Amino acid sequence: MTINPVFTGATPLNPVAPEQQFRDDVLVGLAAAQKFIPAKYFYDEIGSDLFESITVQPEYYPTRTEIGILDASGPDIAALLPARANLVEFGSGSTVKVRRLLTHLSDLAAYVPVDVSESFLRSEAETLSGDFPHLSILPVAADFTRPFTLPEGLSDGAVAGFFPGSTIGNFEPPQAVHLLAHFGRVLGRDATLIVGVDLVKDKAVLDAAYDDAAGVTAGFNLNLLARINRELGADFDTSAFAHRAFFATDASRIEMHLVSLRAQDVVVAGRRFSFAEGETIHTENSYKYTIERFRDLADQAGWNAAKTWTDAEQLFSVHALTRR
Ligand code: AVJ
Repeated sequence: MTINPVFTGATPLNPVAPEQQFRDDVLVGLAAAQKFIPAKYFYDEIGSDLFESITVQPEYYPTRTEIGILDASGPDIAALLPARANLVEFGSGSTVKVRRLLTHLSDLAAYVPVDVSESFLRSEAETLSGDFPHLSILPVAADFTRPFTLPEGLSDGAVAGFFPGSTIGNFEPPQAVHLLAHFGRVLGRDATLIVGVDLVKDKAVLDAAYDDAAGVTAGFNLNLLARINRELGADFDTSAFAHRAFFATDASRIEMHLVSLRAQDVVVAGRRFSFAEGETIHTENSYKYTIERFRDLADQAGWNAAKTWTDAEQLFSVHALTRR
């Protein structure tokens, strides 16, 4: 069965071509006093494959722990959603997680995956429809951080959102509040939102999760420079940079950096950038919350905490929020 995603995103408001945006963002980031590159650029095809490998590393607990929570609490989560609900997944990517929910949501009216990658959306929607033949799947190709409207054909039932994976941790806390408020506007009145949020824990556990022994996360981080070489005509010597990741306790976030191993110049899209030995490019923040701090964030965005599920070790949390 062929499922064609609909475009309901505000494309006229987003006139810059993606390649152009990538170039501009990299040039701005490398010119800053603390050099940085936005974490969303990790995910080219190679980066997306490397991320999938990260999720099965023994040190990287978030993915398997969240799936364990969804499996164990699936019936409980399903009971919290209204009958004949429409489920909207923000940044759906692979459908591994939503499948754990769908098996418990037999009366779901429609599933609406929202993702920027149209080809990925189409192939995931098609395999999902093979496994859930009675489910109405209405994919939307859009950047979920920007305004978009829900597709036609939703039931009159309530709308629920699903935002797993602790992707919320990639946003600075004030931006995370804006994003949660934006989800509220997209989903409408009486919405429920299911969000996966990684929890603060022992620094050694966090440090290891972002610096696995097999070096997969290091490869994921360094692929950003290789991607810039491939797509922007740059001459980064990837062997002259090293992966560094650590939990910054005061800011309550993992920081990932690429450290220049020597003084060097690099040319990117015709511009020269100098690196001192030990200078870093900041490539990612991944915020970690306590249950209380995440509930406070949700509260600032107009959501009430209805229920929170965690694993036995309190590594990860899944929250059900209801809109005020
Ligand atoms: C996809 C943002 C949830 O922060 O754990 C994993 C990305 N970076 N290892 C995370 C990531 C390095 C991941 N998120």
